[in-house]
Amino acid sequence: MPRSIAIDGPVGAGKSTLGAELARLLGYVYVDTGALYRTVGHYVLKKYGNTYSEEDVVATLGEINIEQRLAGDTTKIYLNGSDVSAVIRDDAVSAAASRVSGFKRVRDFLFALQRDVAKGNNVVMDGRDIGTVVLPNADCKLFLTASCEVRAKRRTQQLERAGQKVNYNEVLENMKERDYNDTNRLIAPLKMADDAILIDSSEKSFEETLQELYELARED
Ligand code: DC
Repeated sequence: MPRSIAIDGPVGAGKSTLGAELARLLGYVYVDTGALYRTVGHYVLKKYGNTYSEEDVVATLGEINIEQRLAGDTTKIYLNGSDVSAVIRDDAVSAAASRVSGFKRVRDFLFALQRDVAKGNNVVMDGRDIGTVVLPNADCKLFLTASCEVRAKRRTQQLERAGQKVNYNEVLENMKERDYNDTNRLIAPLKMADDAILIDSSEKSFEETLQELYELARED
């Protein structure tokens, strides 16, 4: 049986950066499930703009083919053969991803994809419902968090490094709103699995957190 490591947690907790690094250390396949929701969000946004119903979104699912491809050290996301890894990080796409992730049929569609990867590979998979819904039998479940203020500060710095002009208070408000949406939606809300280990990185460096995750996730 392949091994699986589930990482869940709120937006901006560093799940994808740490998850990718952890997968590299373990030699496992890394699956950023948020990128899958973002890819659907991106497609829907391109097709309908901001005006669409759940039925409209469900109707597009048959037109969407998502692939993860390894490119050196990083994993790229392809939508119908085009690399969308960069564009799915846009703020407009974040909002669309948050919205489409509340639709059950979208979740079912991506669920199948996530389970298939985990069936055939050792994986580190990160998201919101990995330990609770997607991989309830994961070998190790980690719930990664940090205070909202620390997450907003890190996100502001990350955007500034990418050359964007950002306002910390706006980032903080945006983060609180997404936390609220992710935690309070009816379908698959962000929730820590009973058997998950909580890691709060507010006071820890990236390396310290990575080391902690590695100690917990590695095979004994
Ligand atoms: O982790 P992220 O910010 O890239 O995720 C984008 C959106 O997708 C976010 O609003 C939450 C949603 N998501 C989800 O509902 N379930 C997952 N397993 C991963 C992400």
